[in-house]
Amino acid sequence: MVAMAAVRRLRALATAGPGLRGLSVTSRARPRGLVYEQHGEPAQVLQLKDIDLAELWDSGVRVKMIAAPINPSDINMIQGTYAILADLPAVGGNEGVGQVMEVGSRVTSLKPGDLVIPADAGLGTWRTEAVFSEESLLKMPSDIPVTCAATLGVNPCTAYRMLSDFETLKPGDSLIQNSANSGVGQAVIQIAAAKGIKTINVVRDRPDLQELVDRLKSLGADHVVTEEMLRKPDVKDLLKNVPKPMLALNGVGGKSATELLRHLQHKGTMVTYGGMSKQPVTVPVSALIFKDVKLRGFWMTQWKRDHAQNKEELRKMIEDLCSLIRQGQLTAPACREVPLANYQEALTASMKPYISAKQILLM
Ligand SMILES: NC(=O)c1ccc[n+]([C@@H]2O[C@H](COP(=O)([O-])OP(=O)(O)OC[C@H]3O[C@@H](n4cnc5c(N)ncnc54)[C@H](OP(=O)(O)O)[C@@H]3O)[C@@H](O)[C@H]2O)c1
Repeated sequence: MVAMAAVRRLRALATAGPGLRGLSVTSRARPRGLVYEQHGEPAQVLQLKDIDLAELWDSGVRVKMIAAPINPSDINMIQGTYAILADLPAVGGNEGVGQVMEVGSRVTSLKPGDLVIPADAGLGTWRTEAVFSEESLLKMPSDIPVTCAATLGVNPCTAYRMLSDFETLKPGDSLIQNSANSGVGQAVIQIAAAKGIKTINVVRDRPDLQELVDRLKSLGADHVVTEEMLRKPDVKDLLKNVPKPMLALNGVGGKSATELLRHLQHKGTMVTYGGMSKQPVTVPVSALIFKDVKLRGFWMTQWKRDHAQNKEELRKMIEDLCSLIRQGQLTAPACREVPLANYQEALTASMKPYISAKQILLM
């Protein structure tokens, strides 16, 4: 009953949007977490277990986790196929939001009651409680809705950087992206719309396509087309009121990426950040010779590590994103909140195609 009441409260906070202010997590139940001792399919290798809590050290921070999403990179890390892997046994999850309960004697930037998100990947966020180092955490403003805070550090940051660091886009310019309904894609649509940049959004066809199109348009998408529509010659008519994009964002690879290149402006840039189709990017020779397109890659984890010594740019990005949230220009991705105990259900849903909803574990 108590757990259900807590879940209801978090749900109310997440959906009604009063943010994290006033949320107090006081229980001292034994910490639990989703632990894996070997790599493999997450549903098979993850177990919800009691875990030991490290002693609080000088620069340590004891955190009660509140909510954490399941992202594709979390799944790949557990499968053992990601670029960084944790030492085993490990707790799953790289992202989430928690509340500081206690701080070590040398901690200066955080105090009990503060809300925090990870500053780097690999913390293991699918747990009820942990002691993390001060430098591995970033303070979050307390007025940000739980689901926004829990999902801010990876996808919206990735979208923000890809919109800023590769091409200089002015209001009225355009970009094209595939997997536009992904967490990254939804953030791209919203941040671009806030900057006056037009978006051409490519999704996979599905039975409830119109519902998805309406949802992405309500976020600010200018055009939403399926992969099949993008291949047809008459798509040019549909896209004639937007300038040819200088920027393409590729989270899929394979044929989908090749199609993005076909629509890219001369000397434009395609940034690959994901490979959901598990297919390589194939580039027509003509795109390189006659269009002189640039092919780049982006990895948020590397960017955070490159900026770990001086976190000013990271803090500015979080502040900018929080301002957009406050102004109603950036919302959390479509999501489904699942109590930690029902993690199997959440894992299964997170790996299904056409789900269009991020699974968020409530601790
Ligand atoms: N490089 C970075 O720093 C960075 C940062 C964040 C995310 N990522 C990567 O970006 C990708 C998206 O992450 P996310 O959290 O935004 O994902 P998400 O919200 O879980 O959404 C997954 C997306 O992938 C699509 N998809 C799944 N399987 C596909 C397939 N076989 N072919 C084409 N599309 C497919 C889904 O489309 P349907 O609805 O049609 O199934 C959906 O749009 C992942 O690869 C992730 O690892 C990279």
